[in-house]
Amino acid sequence: MTPFEAIFNRKSVRHYRREEVPASVLDKIQDFDGELLPMFPYVKTATKVFREEEFGRKELMLQVKAPYYLAIYAQELEGYQENAGNMMQQISLYLHSKGIGSCFLGLLRPPKGAPCPEGMKFIIMLAFGYPKEELNRDASRANRLPLEKLCVYKQEPMKATGQLLEAARLAPSSVNAQPWKFVVYRNRIHIFVSEKQSLRPVARWNGVNMGIMMANILMTAEEYWIDVAMTRSENLAEKAIPHYSYTGSVLVKP
Ligand SMILES: Cc1cc2nc3c(=O)[nH]c(=O)nc-3n(C[C@H](O)[C@H](O)[C@H](O)COP(=O)(O)O)c2cc1C
Repeated sequence: MTPFEAIFNRKSVRHYRREEVPASVLDKIQDFDGELLPMFPYVKTATKVFREEEFGRKELMLQVKAPYYLAIYAQELEGYQENAGNMMQQISLYLHSKGIGSCFLGLLRPPKGAPCPEGMKFIIMLAFGYPKEELNRDASRANRLPLEKLCVYKQEPMKATGQLLEAARLAPSSVNAQPWKFVVYRNRIHIFVSEKQSLRPVARWNGVNMGIMMANILMTAEEYWIDVAMTRSENLAEKAIPHYSYTGSVLVKP
């Protein structure tokens, strides 16, 4: 399975076997060396693998237990949370393609005393390892809102636009909040994020969630050779879907 195919087959894995992941994989996810598709290339990020034994017992209390955890750090520049979510989702899909399961963890921090890369901030953790449960889940069984609930259709989308939307719909998010809405034209998707107060504790992860969803869009564009541009339309920032704010647009080039 390729990382792209994993978009449609992945699920969060919460039970793991105590089995070593090959050093080549551990090395790769700590040094992708420009192989990932960043949303904002000017935001520097770094990743670090921790083993379960490096955490104190209290630190892992109530957390998903896994043999490995991957921390991602980023420079605190505009779009840094989105960028980190976007990179981490690509790593998670890469791991899946190698038969390795993973699960984002919003509440786990790096082990006490672990140094933070200079000028960066810790953003999010990913538990990973070989699964003790089913690794795959067909997209039809994923608990996600249908596109009709997520989209406001202004025009009939062209095929490529529809493919990007389906990949976006399947993205994981904190407590499965799916905090996005899409205003859809033939070859344009305007993206909005929820401001709902009820999502307050989750809203903290909205940047990461949006980045994860964008990773699915960008990887799908890459797979199908769909030429896309990420843009921001200033006059849209004023127009609103109630309780949602505009974050940006994806333009599918002809
Ligand atoms: C930013 C973020 C934080 C998350 N935090 C946790 C967590 O602390 N514990 C957990 O079990 N799952 C966590 N998840 C996993 C989500 O609950 C899961 O992705 C969502 O319910 C959708 O299910 P699926 O990944 O199986 O498709 C998190 C996911 C994201 C994106």
